[in-house]
Amino acid sequence: MEVVRLTLPDTANKPTVCETTAYREIQDTLDLCRRLGQIGVITGPTGCGKTTACKAFAKVRHNNARYLRVTIAANSSQPFLHRLCDVIGGYPQPNAGKCELYELALRNLYDGDLVIIDEGNHLTSEVIQILRDLHDEARSRNSRRIGIVFVGTPEMTELWNKRRNGKGSDAFAAFRARIGQTAELKGVGEADIDALCVHFGLKGKRERDVIAKVAKAWDGLHNVDQLMANARLLAGSVSAISSDHLFQAASVMGSR
Ligand SMILES: Nc1ncnc2c1ncn2[C@@H]1O[C@H](COP(=O)(O)OP(=O)(O)O)[C@@H](O)[C@H]1O
Ligand SMILES: [Mg+2]
Repeated sequence: MEVVRLTLPDTANKPTVCETTAYREIQDTLDLCRRLGQIGVITGPTGCGKTTACKAFAKVRHNNARYLRVTIAANSSQPFLHRLCDVIGGYPQPNAGKCELYELALRNLYDGDLVIIDEGNHLTSEVIQILRDLHDEARSRNSRRIGIVFVGTPEMTELWNKRRNGKGSDAFAAFRARIGQTAELKGVGEADIDALCVHFGLKGKRERDVIAKVAKAWDGLHNVDQLMANARLLAGSVSAISSDHLFQAASVMGSR
């Protein structure tokens, strides 16, 4: 039986992320938005590694970045602003109103700060406009350049690309005009499969084929994560996973 040494997900020395194409593009876009104080939009299919790359960027202290995930339960103005103040260290009162929270956020965002808003598909129109105001007023009232980046699946852009049919004003024209950086990510490509194989310590062609098949399926890297977790469970408490464990795990997932 051939044995391949896989670096397991929770092994101490494992580099936590693999530098996929999406990972690099996200890092570059976030860095530009932070340095230029711009509004950015990052879209990509589920499982291409958006959340992982954004969290990795926010972990680096000198990036001055705060990561915020929008939840459906807190997607309207008051709870959203409350969360925002929380992550930027504004210490909001639980019952503070949205105006008060807006002012608190404005006071606590400094030149060179970056706010990364993940799962942006859940945002409401009002919150998008509030964030545009925040970006503008940080500059006009406080002379501070702050970057704000919206991250989500491609459908997120429908939130501000919808125009009223013929009549009335286009409520999001001003928001769209302020988008300085965009990154439209693709799913997992061939170069990413190679990078993932190196990341997991996989050498054989059959192993690469399994990774490719699983990574290109519906949920992208989420599937690869699941595959490696299953292979590990099948291997039990031993420290190395065999190729057979990998193939069995793929078969359990219906990929082989
Ligand atoms: N660059 C990467 N290197 C290693 N694993 C990754 C990487 N990006 C994502 N993953 C794994 O794939 C899974 C899905 O990634 P995620 O960042 O949640 O994708 P998205 O936010 O685009 O849906 C995560 O559980 C993560 O462990
Ligand atoms: Mg995500």
